Amino acid sequence: MNRTITTVRLELRRPRPGDAAAMYSYRSLPEVVCFQCWEPVSAAEVQEFLEGLPDVAPAPAGQWFQLGIYERESGTMVGDLGLRTRASVEDQYEVGITVSPVCQGRGYGAEALTAGLGFAFEQLAAHRVYGSCDPRNTASLALQKKVGMRFEAHLVEAYPFKGGWADDVIHAMLAREWAARS
Ligand SMILES: CC(C)(COP(=O)(O)OP(=O)(O)OC[C@H]1O[C@@H](n2cnc3c(N)ncnc32)[C@H](O)[C@@H]1OP(=O)(O)O)[C@@H](O)C(=O)NCCC(=O)NCCS
Repeated sequence: MNRTITTVRLELRRPRPGDAAAMYSYRSLPEVVCFQCWEPVSAAEVQEFLEGLPDVAPAPAGQWFQLGIYERESGTMVGDLGLRTRASVEDQYEVGITVSPVCQGRGYGAEALTAGLGFAFEQLAAHRVYGSCDPRNTASLALQKKVGMRFEAHLVEAYPFKGGWADDVIHAMLAREWAARS
């Protein structure tokens, strides 16, 4: 996908292998990995991840279609956003987003996630997009609510995570809800 998604302050585009150092710098921080499964140990690991990403949207079922989030003015990579299709149900997407801690609290998360929802509903013809997060992740919960995703479920001790069990809170939006919102 060569298209760039542009918002007021940001652009979302396919990350390049040269973005590995920037992505590693925030993806490896303890406050970022604490609620995420992927804990890269080196920029080389991130580069390998970027080189292996599928280039088509949607990605094959079960794989992430990943976009980098960049400040338009500076070109700096400030985060990343992924969409994953499910093998079992067509037109259902999970969305995940990370913003570098030095850039959090500026509304970038809401701006990028709204753009990601727009891409899923308007370009990929998604029927439903959902976000899954640990209820201790208050920033992620607030972000999903802020962009208009609707609370669906709180699953208790739903998956093994870092040596224990984690709860899973689901927020979602349907295509008709996106259309009504727009
Ligand atoms: C979740 C995340 C993407 C939010 O990014 P962000 O750029 O700071 O988000 P925004 O600035 O757009 O803020 C969105 C809303 O969340 C709220 N928020 C942000 N951080 C918060 C926190 N720690 N606690 C409570 N609310 C918080 C903001 O106040 C804002 O709501 P408001 O405008 O009504 O005040 C970011 O914290 C992050 O990358 N965390 C680490 C990775 C992660 O956990 N990703 C989600 C995996 S499920």
